[in-house]
Amino acid sequence: MYQILEKRALNTDVDWMVIKAPLVAKNAQPGHFVILRVDEVGERIPLTIVEHTDSTITIIYQKLGFSTMKLGELEIGDTIHDLVGPLGRPTHIRDVSSIIAVAGGVGAAPLYPQLRAYKAKGVNIELVLGARDKSHLILLNEYRALCNEVHVCTDDGSFGTKGFVTVLLERILQEKTFDHSIAIGPLIMMKNVVALNDSFELATDVSLNPIMIDGTGMCGNCRVSIHGETYFACVDGPDFPADGINFDELIVRQNYYHDQEHVCSLGLKHK
Ligand code: NAD
Ligand code: FES
Repeated sequence: MYQILEKRALNTDVDWMVIKAPLVAKNAQPGHFVILRVDEVGERIPLTIVEHTDSTITIIYQKLGFSTMKLGELEIGDTIHDLVGPLGRPTHIRDVSSIIAVAGGVGAAPLYPQLRAYKAKGVNIELVLGARDKSHLILLNEYRALCNEVHVCTDDGSFGTKGFVTVLLERILQEKTFDHSIAIGPLIMMKNVVALNDSFELATDVSLNPIMIDGTGMCGNCRVSIHGETYFACVDGPDFPADGINFDELIVRQNYYHDQEHVCSLGLKHK
């Protein structure tokens, strides 16, 4: 059992939670994630380790479906039934001087440990932070403290520039050059950011979060095609260089899954 030590809402859909998990925390690095179950009949929920101390890990989750809603019902002092990690490969922190990072919605959460690692190396970081509206922007103050510049946009114009992250990114790339880019958010956002960066001959790293079950490379659910080869996000990622990723295949699979009922590890069906 893993006790919840702190919890707060970042907005109506998204919570921030600190969990006591010393063995996981001890080995955590940027890019790692955990898979947790709220109770013994719960679905497995993969979540990035956003921060960690010697004995705790911090997660950020969006209350989208049955299981993340149940996670959101837990309060400080409650326990999570099981939690496995750290999983995945640590992020490859590149030897660069400048980065333009792009975060869309909840994608701002998995980006945070990566940018902290780049900051620790003295890299100049600019960030485009986008959300559907002002209330869905997360970690804005944290990123303002971390990055050299933060450019904010919202789909409805309720905060910062009006439009998708790609609108703002294109303006920035017309004026400045960077050594590398990182983009994390919805698949369609990452696909479009990568295409835009490509047109400026700027390479991009992305973080993929396809459906995961076991997290050990056995079930095949998290497969990703890169240059026609199959990789597994849980053991080969979740962070990948974007070159050659078949985003269209991932988008079709994600849409298929979202149209289906969710089946938990005991075969129970949840909408
Ligand atoms: P959202 O749908 O609100 O979009 C967030 C932002 O992405 C938008 O504000 C916009 O700036 C940008 N965006 C959306 N569609 C775009 C398009 N067609 N072109 C360019 N930019 C576009 O996102 P959300 O609901 O906060 O996030 C949920 C999504 O993020 C889910 O699809 C989830 O799978 C994904 N996600 C990914 C990771 C990861 O590790 N890759 C982690 C968490 C969440
Ligand atoms: Fe099963 Fe990755 S989650 S192979």
